[in-house]
Amino acid sequence: MMKLLVSIALIAGASAHQNFHQFWVNDVSPGYQVGIRMPPSNNPVTDVTSNDIVCNVGGTSGTGVETVAAKAGDTIKVQWDSSTHPGPITHMLYGPVDSAASTSGVGAGWFKIDEQDYVDGKWANEIMEAVNMTHTFKLPTKLKSGEYLLRSEMLALHGSQTLGGAQISLPGAYNEDDSDIYIPDFYYGFDPTTYKAPGGNVATCA
Ligand SMILES: *[C@@H]1O[C@H](CO)[C@@H](O)[C@H](O)[C@H]1NC(C)=O
Repeated sequence: MMKLLVSIALIAGASAHQNFHQFWVNDVSPGYQVGIRMPPSNNPVTDVTSNDIVCNVGGTSGTGVETVAAKAGDTIKVQWDSSTHPGPITHMLYGPVDSAASTSGVGAGWFKIDEQDYVDGKWANEIMEAVNMTHTFKLPTKLKSGEYLLRSEMLALHGSQTLGGAQISLPGAYNEDDSDIYIPDFYYGFDPTTYKAPGGNVATCA
């Protein structure tokens, strides 16, 4: 048994204003905005050096936020606000930690478990729009028991033509001029089929 506390990892792009409100473990949801470190607003965090980039403003503590049970291999479905902003969705885990509720999530220890980039002519936000802004993936089958933070991240690449326009980082992991975050020709010749979301490869189970 593992326990999850979901950290919302919003997104950048100066005009990206979408939040993540609900998730399901094997089709059962703990409730609307339950188990999620909700930010105070839907304003994006664009400062790569801020700890707010980890779980959004005020998100370094999950005090009072319910930790939700899940098992390795379980199916997770997340639901975001509607978005017309092109970009990928990725999921990362942080842990196991002593307490998902109290860990800040700041620093090393995040690993990517899911990624959807540009598939068959569509970005993740378009693919999700067709299924009520949901995205479904599975937890790795081999996870150590314990508590984890789950990070759901949508990157809004319409802001990628400007430095500081589309970026997200667990301070230090990404740079504002990385080629997957700063894309000056995004609407002018950039080939989206070559895009790969930041954060490295999806972790594989040994
Ligand atoms: C889409 O999601 C919303 C919010 O969870 C829900 O109220 C609505 O019933 C869903 N629509 C469909 C067609 O499932």
